[in-house]
Amino acid sequence: MANSASEPSRLNVKSTKSNSRDEESSTASAILGQPTKEFPLLTVPNTNQESKARVVSIVNQKGGVGKTTTTINLGAALAESGRKVLLIDFDSQASMTTGLGIKPALLKEQSGSIWYLLNDPNANCADYILKSNVPGLDFIRGHKDLAAADAAFVSEIAKEHKLKKMLQPVMDLYDDILIDCSPSLGTLTVNALTASDGVLIPMECEYFAILGLSLVKETIEKVIQNTNSNLNVIGILATRFDKKTGHSRDVLKLIANQFPDEILDTIIARTVRFSESTVQGEPITTFASSSAGATAYRRLARELVSRGGVK
Ligand SMILES: Nc1ncnc2c1ncn2[C@@H]1O[C@H](COP(=O)(O)OP(=O)(O)OP(=O)(O)O)[C@@H](O)[C@H]1O
Ligand SMILES: [Mg+2]
Repeated sequence: MANSASEPSRLNVKSTKSNSRDEESSTASAILGQPTKEFPLLTVPNTNQESKARVVSIVNQKGGVGKTTTTINLGAALAESGRKVLLIDFDSQASMTTGLGIKPALLKEQSGSIWYLLNDPNANCADYILKSNVPGLDFIRGHKDLAAADAAFVSEIAKEHKLKKMLQPVMDLYDDILIDCSPSLGTLTVNALTASDGVLIPMECEYFAILGLSLVKETIEKVIQNTNSNLNVIGILATRFDKKTGHSRDVLKLIANQFPDEILDTIIARTVRFSESTVQGEPITTFASSSAGATAYRRLARELVSRGGVK
């Protein structure tokens, strides 16, 4: 089980480090020629002010845009600063679980996974929590059978509220809970959005990605109207940004024009370091701690704290 939420991380110092040259080249403001934005360094949140965790869904129905990469590395960046963070692998591909170092043999086990938890009304969420190699970063693993959720829950009453209900026993144990959603807008994603305070939308800097954004927004609107009126969009995160091509820059400009309040200043550039860190089963913040990718996710954590999206 997890330690207490107030335990400071021994990696605290790292999170305050920032490589200003990397940061500058990884911001929308620098690329769009706007004034530089600064965000305060992370401090451990005051748990007395608000004991319940802030819950964030990482959503986009388009595949391969960096949802899982963002969940793992944003989570690791927040945990570095002394926060207690829980990640939930809500995708049948279970890539987040693999990315945190769980071996394929254990992945096959249904018991211990979020799928088992969703299906056992007597199960306690706290018993399903695993520790990652990063202090303060816990997770609940996924399972391939999550793919059956749409059909399995179809006739259940209040099926959209299953995850929210399930999380209640651990809400006071964490500062932030991040949910890695599958590339669909079905029952699981609606469950995640219903359980969340905010939604973060990673978006690849490719033209077709913009076209799919209206679908994500429609789903968010439906959830706000029907199951969770408190949900808000924290921001759109430009991912896999290719500094070498004008196309990424053009798409970033389009997103910034269409969604000026939602586009985040931090952008995540394309680098093979993310795939390498996944193979090693650890976040980029520990695998390549001083890399541009790690710096970008630490900056994202600071930006989201300053927006109130995470604690
Ligand atoms: N900024 C980046 N630069 C280069 N590669 C990246 C970047 N972000 C993610 N990747 C790689 O792209 C692939 C897809 O990323 P990821 O799994 O995070 O996307 P996803 O949106 O979760 O995908 P899915 O929809 O299938 O769940 C992975 O191999 C990952 O390592
Ligand atoms: Mg994924």
